Amino acid sequence: MRLHVADHPLVDHKLTVLRDKNTPSATFRQLVDELVTLLAYEATRHVRIEPHVIETPVTTTTGAKISAPAPIVIPILRAGLGMLEGMTRLLPTAEVGFLGLQRDETTYEAVTYANRLPDDLTDRQVFLLDPMLATGGTLVAAIDYVLERGAREVTCVCLLAAPEGLEVVDRALGGRVDVEVVVAAVDERLNEKKYIVPGLGDAGDRLYGVV
Ligand code: URA
Repeated sequence: MRLHVADHPLVDHKLTVLRDKNTPSATFRQLVDELVTLLAYEATRHVRIEPHVIETPVTTTTGAKISAPAPIVIPILRAGLGMLEGMTRLLPTAEVGFLGLQRDETTYEAVTYANRLPDDLTDRQVFLLDPMLATGGTLVAAIDYVLERGAREVTCVCLLAAPEGLEVVDRALGGRVDVEVVVAAVDERLNEKKYIVPGLGDAGDRLYGVV
């Protein structure tokens, strides 16, 4: 696994406002959107492109366009949904799939409760969106899911990661380098309830309210 921590003053500023428990939901959603757009720039650094010939008003030139098959963006429901627009803003030609994984609050294991994805992901570049890489269980399950269906490169876009979760993902992948994790920050640790510390609380609740 490759880890990329976005190192940018705007990321630090927005993340600090996001962490603040007094930040209301509407501002929280807006900030997640802005942060993901910044992360998307980093996360798409290796998107596959191919030469593309165009006519400018002056001459013919060869530029680049994103190769087929189109990349696929997969928010992990529910909190990953809050990251979708920020990602597709930079990658509007990507397809979008959905994966519903939820952690069991007693075992902390990931359980699939919904999926809307092509069965065949052969050769696809996949972008998994999950704001909080806490225990790593959800992300490992999602990575396994897409790799089993033939995905070639997987980039996980997260707002925060705990060192414990990163280690779980790294160990589960056994040194594979075709999986990258792009995060705004790596925090200190997990607490006894498996929340990231200092973190930002429950990302789903802060995005959508407690339901
Ligand atoms: N999920 C969250 O939303 N927050 C955490 O801190 C950990 C998992």
